[in-house]
Amino acid sequence: MLFVQSFLNEKLAKFKQSAILADCELTRKHQTYNSEMLSQYIAHNLEEQLNKITEHGFCVMDDFMLQASILILADEISALNAVAHLHKAGTGKTQINLNEDLRGDSICWLNEANASVAQLVYFKQMEKLRVGLNEHLYLGLFALESHLALYPIGAGYKKHIDRFKIDTNIRKIDQAVRQVSCILYLNQDWLEEDGGHLRLYLNQADASLDIPPLPLPDITYLDIAPIGGRLVMFLSDTFYHEVLAATRNRASLTGWFLTR
Ligand code: OGA
Ligand code: MN
Repeated sequence: MLFVQSFLNEKLAKFKQSAILADCELTRKHQTYNSEMLSQYIAHNLEEQLNKITEHGFCVMDDFMLQASILILADEISALNAVAHLHKAGTGKTQINLNEDLRGDSICWLNEANASVAQLVYFKQMEKLRVGLNEHLYLGLFALESHLALYPIGAGYKKHIDRFKIDTNIRKIDQAVRQVSCILYLNQDWLEEDGGHLRLYLNQADASLDIPPLPLPDITYLDIAPIGGRLVMFLSDTFYHEVLAATRNRASLTGWFLTR
């Protein structure tokens, strides 16, 4: 009996070990695949950015701004946090439903009229992008709304979409809507193992969209690390996404280009 027991225990231990190894292997495979996948969506200049967003509906650009400006923006958000000038982000249409289970970041809306020098650099860079997007995609983007966001350790933002497809019958005339989401990360020396990835779902466009779905790759999402200076841009009504928890504070500057 004892023999059977120890035999079973040994078997169980071996099984557990192989399950752990299989898990590691899967993670490793995903990471390799993820970074290979990601590389085809990386743009190196404005023109590539516009071509990629036209083709795929999203793109990633590293060093969107000089590291010196990124550092200053990161300092600004830490300073705002230190003096309690960030407020808990809301969700939903009215932005007043506080739900920390859904979303754990604190934010500060930016206003170009009283922006800091580094924020003005950001606004200038985003204006170039807005003009380029209008020329390439004929979107008629007329404004940008942006906020700094800070996710404390362990906080995230559950799977969501930044805008649902508009029903033109119920949409009020002149109502501004989010068309393109842009997230600029402000984190120095971020490592893959720090977590905090933006998980972008690639094949779950809003079912009510009248554009054809994007070509399906054989993974359903991409994990994008929030590396300082990196800008991720995607069509707001097309991509579900979430923010995974991180082991460090995670800072970003998020902007949405709007149409009427
Ligand atoms: C958002 C959002 C993603 C990120 O603010 O709506 O999805 O990576 N942010 O910070
Ligand atoms: Mn979002």
